[in-house]
Amino acid sequence: MDQTQIFKVDPENPDQRLIAAAAQLIQAGEVVAFPTETVYGLGANGLDPTAVTKIFAAKGRPADNPLILHISSVRDLEQVVVKIPPLAQALIQRFWPGPLTLVLPKKTGVPDAVTAGLPTVAVRMPAHPVAQALITATGLPIAAPSANISGRPSPTLAGHVWADLNGRIAAILDGGPTGIGLESTVVDLSGDSPCLLRPGGVSREELEAVIGPVGFAVEPGATQTPKAPGMKYRHYAPQAPVWVVSAPTLDGLAGKLQRLAQAAIAQGEVPYLLVSQETAVLLQQHFTEETIAVWGSRNNPAEIAHNLFSLLRSADEKQATIIYAEGIEPSGLGAAVMNRLLKAAGGRVLDSKSQE
Ligand code: TXA
Ligand code: MG
Repeated sequence: MDQTQIFKVDPENPDQRLIAAAAQLIQAGEVVAFPTETVYGLGANGLDPTAVTKIFAAKGRPADNPLILHISSVRDLEQVVVKIPPLAQALIQRFWPGPLTLVLPKKTGVPDAVTAGLPTVAVRMPAHPVAQALITATGLPIAAPSANISGRPSPTLAGHVWADLNGRIAAILDGGPTGIGLESTVVDLSGDSPCLLRPGGVSREELEAVIGPVGFAVEPGATQTPKAPGMKYRHYAPQAPVWVVSAPTLDGLAGKLQRLAQAAIAQGEVPYLLVSQETAVLLQQHFTEETIAVWGSRNNPAEIAHNLFSLLRSADEKQATIIYAEGIEPSGLGAAVMNRLLKAAGGRVLDSKSQE
């Protein structure tokens, strides 16, 4: 394929001609990246198996990992699922459009290429005006995973999509940085009781406030295979190995990070520290800005979520050879942050239980 086209759009009020051009590409069976409020998605006609196969090829994604269908009205949901149970209705009412994906029994018209042969389909209605305009203009459910090469951190800027996929997809709608910065929450409502398959932009606490107890396919921090097929692969990873570092106190944490980074430097490594601003204050006299990246306040997981993937990618630009990332409290949006971080780390954790 030739170079990928870039359509720069106002994220609040996208130019309808550019939306129409992108929609035509999708209707013609091409793949187009677009911004959502979570991360950039890589969209194709969700009813066309050939178009969907192009998504897998562009990303290098394993075929057994199903895709989310993106819709722009609840009426579209009725086209792709068999029924909308009461719990789904309650969640839709409260969280759509927004960063929540529901897994429901699929209608037969949904291609196996989308669902990886599963009897269920994942559906979400994004809130981002560009995503909404694009879906509406195509008149189709749009199948879209995150618009990164499989295994890399999800893209929160059009530049991330370009870096991974230039020449492999028809176009990118550039609507600037995404807001939330990590993916939607995936909830399975196809069984007897609701089950959280992936923590994300809507927290488990927020879900439970609406529908009561929600089970978790895998408890936070565990590394065994959960039910969302995609969660079994190494994910979100920069080139260098990532270690998640925690300690009972902030001073203890800063001391530990300092020792780790200094030991790495002594061995000729290029360490990169991804830390909160509270920790950065304690470390800044020891290291330069080249070594420390600040991703927000420990008290504001939303800020950390927003910066997480971008800073994981920046470690590659700095040519870091080892990354130490600060662990945070896994509650609220912090649970989604820690889920992504532990996956990026492939389970490498240095906490009070590990030997230094
Ligand atoms: O925020 C998001 O959800 C973004 C934006 C673009 O919407 N999309 C996204 O898609 O993160 P992706 O493909 O990177 O992740 C989809 C997740 C995977 O873990 C996949 O295994 C799971 O949803 N999934 C999809 N269909 C499923 C199904 N029928 N049953 C269980 N899990 C499913
Ligand atoms: Mg993804």
